[in-house]
Amino acid sequence: MKRTIRARKAVERMRPYYPPLEGRFGKVRLDFNENPLGCSPAVRRALAKLGADAISMYPEQGSVRAKMAKALGVRTGELLLTNGTDEALHLLVQTFVDAGERVLLAEPTYAMYRFYAELAGARIETLRYGAASEIPMPAILAALRRRPRLFFLANPNSPTGHLASYAQLRRILKAAPRTIIVVDEAYHEFSDMTVLPWLRRYGNLVVTRTFSKAAGMAGLRLGCIFAQEGLAAQMRKAQSPYPVNVAALAAAEAALGDRAFIARTIRETRRGRAHLERGLARLGIRYFPSAGNFVLAQFGERAGEIVTALAKQRVLVRDRSSDFGGEGYVRITLGTTRQARRFLRELERILPRKPIPRTFR
Ligand SMILES: Cc1ncc(COP(=O)(O)O)c(C=O)c1O
Repeated sequence: MKRTIRARKAVERMRPYYPPLEGRFGKVRLDFNENPLGCSPAVRRALAKLGADAISMYPEQGSVRAKMAKALGVRTGELLLTNGTDEALHLLVQTFVDAGERVLLAEPTYAMYRFYAELAGARIETLRYGAASEIPMPAILAALRRRPRLFFLANPNSPTGHLASYAQLRRILKAAPRTIIVVDEAYHEFSDMTVLPWLRRYGNLVVTRTFSKAAGMAGLRLGCIFAQEGLAAQMRKAQSPYPVNVAALAAAEAALGDRAFIARTIRETRRGRAHLERGLARLGIRYFPSAGNFVLAQFGERAGEIVTALAKQRVLVRDRSSDFGGEGYVRITLGTTRQARRFLRELERILPRKPIPRTFR
């Protein structure tokens, strides 16, 4: 067999990560925490108005960045726009972590933290959320004493939906002034909580956000990083010159002007959540209380089979078994009440065949 040219050692060591991203059009998509309502009509109008001039030029992001900074109460120099939060995470690791340096994670959490840390050849230190999905504070404080370069914390966390409190975040930020504490606020709109106003208080705080979730723009890829100007300038130095395309910029400006769409999304999500939680409880399925637009439920040994059977009925949910060492967890995005009803109806058809083993802790 012909030998192919080898990749970097860090890449060779990585397990491939291929989320099931194809063939989702037209199905009930409760698998990627997108917005089931779509996006704001103002976003679609802004995209329709994009002229040949704008499309044929390299994108200019200055005015959108300034408007966004103003809307969110930060200085322009404290904000970077990125190609989705994913680019933000990559950029953070690229800017601050050399091969062999420590990156701290509490798992289960968003898979791309580990992905980019592994890609950089970082030394990954992993803690685990507790059995009731609570944040492992003593272990985090102990691990921070070893001065990792970065600590990634999703708040609310995915897939558990757990929300760390202000007091816990304050303790973490104070415990490790030399560690960059990344608070990923991808789902903050659903939680009523943000640490963005703390930016000037803590030099080690980085907040990331996305337009993929509440704003319903996952297809356009737009995220942002907030940090004090010194840190932000270093990241800008490591970033490519045109990370965000002109369509995403036009859409962002329109999305910022339509707060009503976000408010409607939050209302619908809450209604969908109440419906789904009641249905799961009725079926005797354990789930974690969630501050995000998704719920993690425990199906035990039948998780894989249930996810496959639902997919056959065109209802997509996410099997997260591997996150917990095969304990049978499934993450369900909160869609509309109608979608939650459809999910429960299909689930009830599948479930009676065999009981769910009571393996709950
Ligand atoms: C916690 C968290 N952060 C970031 C992202 C990705 O955001 P983006 O689409 O902006 O890359 C996700 C997506 O699922 C997520 O769950």
